[in-house]
Amino acid sequence: MTLPNDLDSSRLPQHVAIIMDGNGRWARQQGKIRTFGHQNGVLAVRDTVEAAAELGVKFLSLYAFSTENWKRPRWEVNALMELLIDTISKETKTLMDNNIRLQAIGDINSLPEKCRKQLDETIQKTNSNTRMTLILALSYSSRWEITNAVQEIVSEAIKGNIKPEDINDNVISDHMCTRFCPDPELLIRTSGEYRISNFMLWQIAYTELFFTNKLWPDFRRNDFFDAIRDFQKRERRYGMLSENQPDDNDA
Ligand code: IPE
Ligand code: IPE
Ligand code: MG
Repeated sequence: MTLPNDLDSSRLPQHVAIIMDGNGRWARQQGKIRTFGHQNGVLAVRDTVEAAAELGVKFLSLYAFSTENWKRPRWEVNALMELLIDTISKETKTLMDNNIRLQAIGDINSLPEKCRKQLDETIQKTNSNTRMTLILALSYSSRWEITNAVQEIVSEAIKGNIKPEDINDNVISDHMCTRFCPDPELLIRTSGEYRISNFMLWQIAYTELFFTNKLWPDFRRNDFFDAIRDFQKRERRYGMLSENQPDDNDA
């Protein structure tokens, strides 16, 4: 597949995160039930993973199931878990062929056993792959993750392994599920919703946000490239001054 030649390969985000939203609305537009949207969402995942790997993105995080999604009707949750098992099992070969490593973040212990087993198996199998890491956020929410991190840090403090005054940004990051990867530089959300829905709140402090009206099952490689193109036009200032803006004191 060809890559767009207007993208600057020296200014690629290392880590892109995606809130894949809009499956239910997409299905309704076709007069089908919500699970039909989830099934078609898998095609968007495949295309996006391929595009990200070809482009040279090192980490791609996909928000696939939130802590709050457990509150959906039982039939939908069951269908999502089945789809997850089936997709991971079927895609393991493609991950191997493309040298992609799988990782999962979230409260993995809360997933059904069959799901955990399939995840574990594919994570182990793809562990030495080096081209890109695909991170699935499953039973994940930021508030769960931050609460978990606080509990761990407080336990260590009580044991005397860390002093409260030594707790800093880095210590906290090291207790997040994402401790093995850099913070995302770009976060994409589909479906025209302008919210974060409890995703990576700690990690996105200075992330560039990209919102699109496309519903997730319609999202394809060119939509991913559009987001990267938009990212490359932005100036990231991290609270400092623009590089082009003269310092008044120099005048
Ligand atoms: C995203 O699509 C998939 C999950 C949250 C699991 P939705 O199922 O939220 O679809 P909409 O937002 O209702 O259209
Ligand atoms: C966010 O989508 C969670 C995932 C994409 C897994 P939701 O559909 O659950 O979020 P809200 O309800 O629009 O905030
Ligand atoms: Mg939704």
